[in-house]
Amino acid sequence: MSNPIKIPRSNIINIRDGEYSAVYQNNQEYWAEVKVLIPERYSHADYSSIPAKIKGILSTVGIDQKQNKPVVKNCLYIHGPTGVGKTFIAYSIQLKLASQGLPSAFVETYDLLYQTQNELFQRKADYSIEDAKQYRYHLFLDDFGMDKLTDMNLSLLTKLLDYRYKNCLPTIFTSNFSPSQLIEKGFDDRMISRIVEMSEIIEITGKDKRVS
Ligand SMILES: Nc1ncnc2c1ncn2[C@@H]1O[C@H](COP(=O)(O)OP(=O)(O)OP(=O)(O)O)[C@@H](O)[C@H]1O
Ligand SMILES: [Mg+2]
Repeated sequence: MSNPIKIPRSNIINIRDGEYSAVYQNNQEYWAEVKVLIPERYSHADYSSIPAKIKGILSTVGIDQKQNKPVVKNCLYIHGPTGVGKTFIAYSIQLKLASQGLPSAFVETYDLLYQTQNELFQRKADYSIEDAKQYRYHLFLDDFGMDKLTDMNLSLLTKLLDYRYKNCLPTIFTSNFSPSQLIEKGFDDRMISRIVEMSEIIEITGKDKRVS
């Protein structure tokens, strides 16, 4: 295997690279590579430091287990104000999965939409909604609902969620908005209804850790 240091530093585990991840399952080298791909600010994201209550919920959705149970409520929707540690929790879950040899993909939702629009207009794109839709391992969607909800964004996100909902594909959202606040942002209730059925909803409260 190539030296992990040579892998471009990125906050995205290439979601077109499912096979690549699979090769390194249960392998220390794979674990080392995933660590390289975690952005520096979250490199210390440690599962042991996340609240016990959240760990309990992760257990019920099967995320803390080696084999995911074929459960229909196998997603998480983590929401709360800025700086409370939502992305930190998401990365700590990703590291926990990786430590068990389980691949996953972490994308910023705004970047997923941006890349998809590039692809639609035949510009260079790293990945698209189509890749995210069909990604069969855990997909992390960071900052869900942050973007301006254009008709195109709404239709792309609906397509993504509907497919993952129908196929019970594990998805972990972080958002500054609760599901009901998403409706105020212009998301339709069909989408919210799916999110609520597929996910355990976790609200994180507290101070902004960046400034306190
Ligand atoms: N449990 C923790 N232990 C140590 N540092 C933490 C912990 N939780 C969060 N942090 C740190 O606090 C800062 C803010 O956390 P994070 O980026 O996860 O917030 P967020 O809720 O995702 O905010 P936003 O809504 O703006 O995206 C980061 O520097 C992060 O590394
Ligand atoms: Mg965040």
